[in-house]
Amino acid sequence: MKLFIDTANIEDIKKAHFYGVLDGVTTNPTLLSKEGADPLAQLEKICEVVKGPVSAEVTALDSETMVKEALDLSKIASNIVIKVPCTTEGLKATRELSSKNINTNLTLCFSPSQALLVAKAGATYVSPFIGRLDDISTEGMNLVADIRLIYDNYGISTQIIAASIRHPIHFLEAARIGAGVATVPFAVIEKLMNHPLTDKGIKRFLDDWAKLKDNLSK
Ligand code: E4P
Repeated sequence: MKLFIDTANIEDIKKAHFYGVLDGVTTNPTLLSKEGADPLAQLEKICEVVKGPVSAEVTALDSETMVKEALDLSKIASNIVIKVPCTTEGLKATRELSSKNINTNLTLCFSPSQALLVAKAGATYVSPFIGRLDDISTEGMNLVADIRLIYDNYGISTQIIAASIRHPIHFLEAARIGAGVATVPFAVIEKLMNHPLTDKGIKRFLDDWAKLKDNLSK
């Protein structure tokens, strides 16, 4: 499973990038707004660090303007992927962008039917939002499993990005189901590597090593 970071914060992106396990980045208008900088300049900075797919979202609601915005965003760098909402206008824009060989990430996906239709329109990626479904007492992970099943039934190559991930169990479940990608906030990426027994084990090894050094120097 590929690992994307779900942020527009350049410092967090750099940290995750230097861990050597980062495959791409997803941003959205909220994440870019948090940074308070010019969004195009911020996306350019991100693309200088990460050479894998970097998702940038259109804000128009009609397909014609979505495509115009997508063409502008695509000029930022060759690895920009256009995030388009799962709406009927989004479908039209996706078909158009796909005919121009522009990669798309269909975002705000909350149902398997949306995922099937966006794949038919030529979506490169689809992003089911797990956490936001969990928030309304609906098992978000069931959506990822349904999409996996449907895509496998028909040999669909659209990649599933498990999105709106809130904790390490979301990440693990997405991998078990076979999502192609998980997009994960930095704080959760760090938690993926934390284990108290690893820390305890390191401490014991270092204490024993220090004891040996001490004994040898006597
Ligand atoms: C995905 O691409 C979105 O940016 C993101 O996962 C949304 O997550 P949230 O529900 O935590 O805002």
